[in-house]
Amino acid sequence: MSKIILTGDRPTGKLHVGHYVGSLRRRVELQNSGEFDDIFIMIADAQALTDNADNPEKVRQNIIEVALDYLSCGLDPAKSTLFIQSQIPQLCELSFYYMNLVTVSRLQRNPTVKTEIAMRNFETSIPVGFFTYPISQAADITAFKATTVPVGEDQLPMLEQTKEIVRKFNMTYGDTLIEPEILLPDNKACLRLPGIDGKAKMSKSLGNCIYLSEDEKTLKQKVMSMYTDPNHIQISDPGQIEGNTVFTYLDAFCKDEYFAQYLPEYNNLEELKAHYTRGGLGDVKVKKFLLNVLNTELEPIRNRRKEFEKDIPYVYEVLKKGSEKAREVAENTLNEVKNAMKINYFDDAELIKSQAEKYMNQ
Ligand code: TRP
Repeated sequence: MSKIILTGDRPTGKLHVGHYVGSLRRRVELQNSGEFDDIFIMIADAQALTDNADNPEKVRQNIIEVALDYLSCGLDPAKSTLFIQSQIPQLCELSFYYMNLVTVSRLQRNPTVKTEIAMRNFETSIPVGFFTYPISQAADITAFKATTVPVGEDQLPMLEQTKEIVRKFNMTYGDTLIEPEILLPDNKACLRLPGIDGKAKMSKSLGNCIYLSEDEKTLKQKVMSMYTDPNHIQISDPGQIEGNTVFTYLDAFCKDEYFAQYLPEYNNLEELKAHYTRGGLGDVKVKKFLLNVLNTELEPIRNRRKEFEKDIPYVYEVLKKGSEKAREVAENTLNEVKNAMKINYFDDAELIKSQAEKYMNQ
């Protein structure tokens, strides 16, 4: 069986380092591993519109931001198909048929949808499109016969929903769709990178993000203002690692070689943590180290972005070409789905013949 990746992001802002460690970095590794037959990376503008219906301009403006972030991280259009969701109408058609396989109460139980409804104060008036986006996400994944979906932990309920739809479809209409597997980050810090204020999740509205395209000066300000251990007041005080944002970021980004390069008194992160826990290690020193680590990781991304920013028409061309390819693939799956459901009347000579015979014999 082919190994196929499908994943994507809503274009509601620039991507941040949480996206990077949670999924983007992995996608690039998977892309370059050569293990996959096809890789589809989708800018989910239609999904973004399900809770931004009044602000299509925001979505429109951010498509290019996400595309630039993708390219600058190393997603390569020669190896991965980058495309825009709304340009693939077959996804809507698939969603429409999948809707019959899902109950309202099942959607109401989806924990991610529940949280998002509360966050957006949608409780009393949920847009239907928003409510049903897990179904459209199942269409995104199955249209490309994805076997592997590298995403963050918050997408687990969407994958569960997708698997249920696949099973229900295959049971009802015969084996047609592929059940996908979620691929989560293997490092706990990467699962849910906190904001610089130590709050659970990085989010644009909380203003606690470090963006991938952050310039050096802003990055420094943000790292220096990061939440640490509030009880670690004197350098000599013992410090706490748990819940200390600076160390969580180091868990997500640090490699041993960075110690030799920037902090040779220690061999690895364990030694640094041990010193901090014991007392005698100041926050500023750890923050400066983190800043070096982040700069080393983000600088190549920043530089590549500047290059791509010089040729925006090229980036749109990449998305256009990708969308054309994606449309062909989704069209094939849609045809298979319609065949399985036997809603392919005009291609079904048997149907026409048998109906004709029925009336002939009357
Ligand atoms: N829900 C994802 C997000 O919020 C975006 C998305 C849409 C997606 N369709 C998808 C991710 C299919 C993986 C697979 O970022």
